[in-house]
Amino acid sequence: MLTDLTSTLGLSVPIVQGGMAWVSGSRLASAVSQAGGLGVLGAATMDPRELRRHIHAVRQRTERPFAVNLPLILLRADGADRVEELAHVILAERPPVVITGAGSPAKWTSTFKEAGLLVGHVVPSARLAQKSHAAGVDFVVAESNEAGGHVRPHGLATLSLVPQVVDAVPIPVVAAGGITDGRGVAAALALGASAVQLGTRFVATQECEAHAAFKQSLVAAGSEDAVLYGPEGKISRGLATPAVQHMVELAREGASAEDLRAARGIDRARLGCVEGSIEEGILPSGSGVGLVRELPTVAALMDELMATARGQVEAISERLGARAPIA
Ligand SMILES: Cc1cc2nc3c(=O)[nH]c(=O)nc-3n(C[C@H](O)[C@H](O)[C@H](O)COP(=O)(O)O)c2cc1C
Repeated sequence: MLTDLTSTLGLSVPIVQGGMAWVSGSRLASAVSQAGGLGVLGAATMDPRELRRHIHAVRQRTERPFAVNLPLILLRADGADRVEELAHVILAERPPVVITGAGSPAKWTSTFKEAGLLVGHVVPSARLAQKSHAAGVDFVVAESNEAGGHVRPHGLATLSLVPQVVDAVPIPVVAAGGITDGRGVAAALALGASAVQLGTRFVATQECEAHAAFKQSLVAAGSEDAVLYGPEGKISRGLATPAVQHMVELAREGASAEDLRAARGIDRARLGCVEGSIEEGILPSGSGVGLVRELPTVAALMDELMATARGQVEAISERLGARAPIA
C-alpha cells in the first residue's frame, strides 16, 4: 500500500507515530520505523543533550527513516526560547524528517530544507495548510480537535478537516486525530490522506516510554472519557483524571483564565505521563480511546492496523459493487 508520501519518506506502510511530549523517545520511535512506519521523537520535553541522545539511539536501533517533532513555541521556566537550541541539534544531527507545529512554519522551514531535511507541519485548518505550503513544507499533518494533547477547542473533526486540507494544497496530507484502528486508517485514506498519524494508540503499546498506569488508563477508558479542558489558548484533550475534572468544573463555574492556568499548573503532564500519577496528573488522549483494549507490541499493532484497513477497503468495494435487488 504505497502513496506519494510513503515513497518520498521511504516508508513501507502509510503510518506515522505522532510526536508526543514525555512519551515518544527512541524506544517507541525506532520500533515504529523498524516496522515500516515513521517513528517520531517528541522533542518538546527534551533538552538538547537528551534530544541528541535519542537521535543517536534511534540510529543504533534502525536504519530506517525517522523524524523529530519540534513545536515552534517552547519556553523554559525562566521564559527563554527553547526552540533555537533544539533546532541546532536537529541541524547538526540531520534526522531525515522534521515535523514542526504550534507556530508559524515561515521561520524555520527554509533553514531545515537547506540542510536537506524533509519538513512537515501540523495544521488545524485548510487556511494554515496553505500558509505552510507557501512556506515550503513538503507535507502537512491535518490534525483535528479529536486528537490527544493541545487542540483547537472549536476546531474541525477529522472527517470534515482532511478532505478540505487535501483540496487546499497540492502536497501530501497526513490525517491525525481520533484514528485508532484499521477502520480509521481506511477512512482517512478514503478522504484523500496520504498517510495517518496516530498518537494515543501508540501510547498503549509495549515499547512506548509512558508509565504503565497511563497505558492501563487508556485500556480502561470508554468512549466518553477523553474530554477538553484547560485555559483559553491552551485547550487540550485528555482523560478525565481528577485534576482534569477539577479544571472542567472550574470552567463550568465560569473561572477566569488565570484560575484555570493555576489549576493546570506546570508539571501535571510529566506527573501523569512519566510518574503515572492518576490523581495529580494529566493524561493526554484522543477521542478514539474507547477503541484501545490491549497493549500490543508496535509491530503487532501495525500489522493489525494494515490488515484491518485492507479488509475494510475490500468490504467497502464489494458493498459498493453490489446492486440492490429490484423490488
Ligand atoms: C501523550 C501525547 C502527547 C502529545 N504531545 C505532542 C507534542 O509534543 N507535539 C505535537 O505536535 N503533538 C503532540 N501530540 C499529538 C500527537 O502528535 C498526534 O497528532 C495526536 O495524538 C493524534 O491524535 P490521537 O491521539 O487521537 O491519535 C501528543 C499527543 C499525545 C496523546
